[in-house]
Amino acid sequence: MKSNSLETHIAGLHLNSPTMLASGIMSYSVDFFQRIAKEGVGGIVTKSIGLESRKGFENPTIVQINNGFINAMGLPNPGIASYANEIKKAKNVLNIPLIVSVYGFSIEEYETVAKKAINYGADAVELNVSCPHVKDTGLEIGQNPEKLFRAIKKVKNNVKKPVIVKLSPNVTNITEFATIAVEAGADALTATNTIHAMAIDIESTKPILSNIFGGFSGPPIKPIILRCVYELFKTVTVPIIGSGGITNWRDAIEFMLAGASAIQIGTAIALQNTKVFNDINKGIKSYLKKKRFKNVEQIVGLSQKI
Ligand SMILES: Cc1cc2nc3c(=O)[nH]c(=O)nc-3n(C[C@H](O)[C@H](O)[C@H](O)COP(=O)(O)O)c2cc1C
Repeated sequence: MKSNSLETHIAGLHLNSPTMLASGIMSYSVDFFQRIAKEGVGGIVTKSIGLESRKGFENPTIVQINNGFINAMGLPNPGIASYANEIKKAKNVLNIPLIVSVYGFSIEEYETVAKKAINYGADAVELNVSCPHVKDTGLEIGQNPEKLFRAIKKVKNNVKKPVIVKLSPNVTNITEFATIAVEAGADALTATNTIHAMAIDIESTKPILSNIFGGFSGPPIKPIILRCVYELFKTVTVPIIGSGGITNWRDAIEFMLAGASAIQIGTAIALQNTKVFNDINKGIKSYLKKKRFKNVEQIVGLSQKI
């Protein structure tokens, strides 16, 4: 490993840098994946894909609030069979890990979609058990200890690649759900999905989003998700991927010092542009050099090591 190396490892996946694309923000097309690969992204998580195609919710599906977004897209996606070619194409042109984000309306659907994604060539799956705005999936599984355990176990028993579980921050104690996820076999945890939220238009006097409720992302949620990562690092031994409001290298370093082995970037791509991956990687590298760390893995969880 070169000095000041950005290489990191998540459940057997080798990442050239700790910056990853978060699920759902421009995360469908291979063309976009290739663009961000040139910016040094270490791994890609696709938009969440289900068994059948979904149109998503009527507009408005997203609103900008306090430099963040509340979104209720409604999980629009082509369905796993129609996404097969995109997965195969991505694997042909990219030499970084491709992680397919999976959701289902039943435990069996999570398993079927995960199995298909891996068969089409995905290097791992990330289980979206935390989408806060679509009924009967996501959060409704991620907030239910028994369903969460069964969904993860079912997928784990049937796929031979790493299973990453994306946790919800919309629970009283995230460490309880993390413990259940790890007991069920999760190889890594992503912390976290968006925070359940809403916005009201005071002129029309009505909620802005067609779905009324959505998920809050971006800089305002960073301190809350950072706290989640810190608590998780104390509780579990599997790698943690931070996701929530990371927009610059300082945020990225904070998350790694709290315990994240890698970080996902979503809203910052919309607030800035695709160069954000390169900017963050460069900033982390300078920090490692200035502080005389040999590699990025040395700083993971350092804020809580004695
Ligand atoms: C427009 C939008 C769509 C999203 N879609 C998904 C999705 O399909 N699956 C998922 O697991 N997370 C989804 N997310 C959540 C992000 O992956 C990420 O976890 C969250 O936004 C926090 O990170 P950020 O503050 O860097 O955006 C979405 C977020 C946004 C803003």
